[in-house]
Amino acid sequence: MSITLSVPVTSGQAFLGTRDQVAAARAWALAAVPLPRSHPRASDLATVVTELATNAIRHSMSGARGGRYCLQVSLDPGSTAERGAVELTCVDLGPGAGLQDEREDACEGGRGLRLVRALVDAYSADQTPTSREVRCRLIWGGGPA
Ligand SMILES: Nc1ncnc2c1ncn2[C@@H]1O[C@H](COP(=O)(O)OP(=O)(O)OP(=O)(O)O)[C@@H](O)[C@H]1O
Ligand SMILES: [Mg+2]
Repeated sequence: MSITLSVPVTSGQAFLGTRDQVAAARAWALAAVPLPRSHPRASDLATVVTELATNAIRHSMSGARGGRYCLQVSLDPGSTAERGAVELTCVDLGPGAGLQDEREDACEGGRGLRLVRALVDAYSADQTPTSREVRCRLIWGGGPA
């Protein structure tokens, strides 16, 4: 008997908000998708995780002592190495009262989110003072069959 999953396969993991944990966050996300490391979309996912994790550390309270951020990877049903889609969510502890508010649209200096938005098929972000959730969708091979 074969079983076909019709719901997304979702995994989540919390990471300490320190720069030395960014590589672990990247490796964890890559391990959750059925793509070989050499696949262009695996490389895009790695870049997106790096940018979002770095932002969580630099711009949110997740980068404060003991702070954490969470990654969630949700794989579309039927995703394979040939075709599929994944939603990556990064949730951090928000900018806090003393930190800068989001200014990604107006900011000339910021390159990270511009790069992320250019790489992904869909992007959205919601922020409160105590939480920021960024969602990115990446598709490969035309999406799941
Ligand atoms: N997780 C976050 N929490 C709060 N603000 C954020 C967060 N991520 C981004 N921002 C805001 O959006 C701006 C643009 O982000 P972006 O990643 O494009 O640039 P950057 O992090 O400032 O620089 P870099 O080019 O090195 O990534 C940031 O400067 C910051 O003000
Ligand atoms: Mg950045």
